[in-house]
Amino acid sequence: KEVVLSGIRPTGFLHLGNYFGAMRNYVRMQDEYNCYFFVADWHSLTTHPDTKELKNSVLRVVAENIACGLDPEKVALYVQSDVKEIAELYLYLNMMAYVGELEKTPTFKDKVRQNPDNVNAGLLTYPVLMAADILVHRAVKVPVGKDQEQHVELARKFAERFNYRYGDLFPAPQAFNYGTQLVKIMSLDGNGKMSKSENQMATLYLADEDDAIRKKIMKAKTDSGPTEPNSQKPDYIENLFTLMNLVSTPDVVQHYETAFNGCAIRYGDLKKQLAEDMVNFMSPIRQKAADLQANKELLAKIMKAGAEKARASASETLKLVRQATGVNYF
Ligand code: TYM
Repeated sequence: KEVVLSGIRPTGFLHLGNYFGAMRNYVRMQDEYNCYFFVADWHSLTTHPDTKELKNSVLRVVAENIACGLDPEKVALYVQSDVKEIAELYLYLNMMAYVGELEKTPTFKDKVRQNPDNVNAGLLTYPVLMAADILVHRAVKVPVGKDQEQHVELARKFAERFNYRYGDLFPAPQAFNYGTQLVKIMSLDGNGKMSKSENQMATLYLADEDDAIRKKIMKAKTDSGPTEPNSQKPDYIENLFTLMNLVSTPDVVQHYETAFNGCAIRYGDLKKQLAEDMVNFMSPIRQKAADLQANKELLAKIMKAGAEKARASASETLKLVRQATGVNYF
């Protein structure tokens, strides 16, 4: 079976972008592939050095992943810092990464702009740590949203350079989504991608109560509607249709598509429908996640078992890395 890996940072509440860009694929992939999914707690320290909320966030990410349908019996579900081999591989891969290309990475430039006072080396080498996450299991498919595509490309480059220097060891990892393109869910206010830290009123969190979901969707950005038949949708309208496609029935989507194309669409109705379908979709996930979060013992058991599975695979890779590099003396 092909190896799959992906991770999520515990920097805040998970939202629909995380779900539709990544977690939904995890759930589908668990039956077909040999899957490793993890909470990227080390990565979160690059931007969130305050660890007061870390433990809660880690537990919540684990609980929410299971609530979304991940089965810890089928996959390895673990926390990054429980697998020290990742840190060791990160060290080797740092020698495969050029400072120039890391400085050019758009996510690094964004972070520098957002917080010029904390441009730490961990931020610069973020993609190297991410490559270590992927390559430590010799994964080939990496289910992620569009915003992570360049990081996966860098991981592929580091793997190629390692192979070139020390012999073929790593298969080339690829960003993956069922369907063709990687997903980008926009913020409901139409400003950029939905994210953990941006405008909270325009972000649908998996933990949101039913009324909050309704309120946020009813406030989503729209306009007075198309004036010509079959026009192209503005991106914030396209985003509402994307969400509708994900949670509503095909009949419902078709109804609003036809209305849009015939210039007869009423966005108020569309949002009401979307809000109800979204509530129906999200509320069981929220309830299951809350139950799991209350069961700390069960979560601990799951994380320990996940770490064991992950360490078995990771230590095998590190053995091969040490043989390949010659850093191996007796
Ligand atoms: P993170 O924690 O920011 O996001 C987790 C996953 O959610 C996806 N995502 C989105 N997809 C579509 N639309 C959005 N608005 C949206 N927002 C987030 C992300 O693409 C991601 O798949 N660097 C990673 C974590 C990581 C990782 C890895 C991922 C660390 N090591 C190794 C894959 C492989 C991150 O910060 O994701």
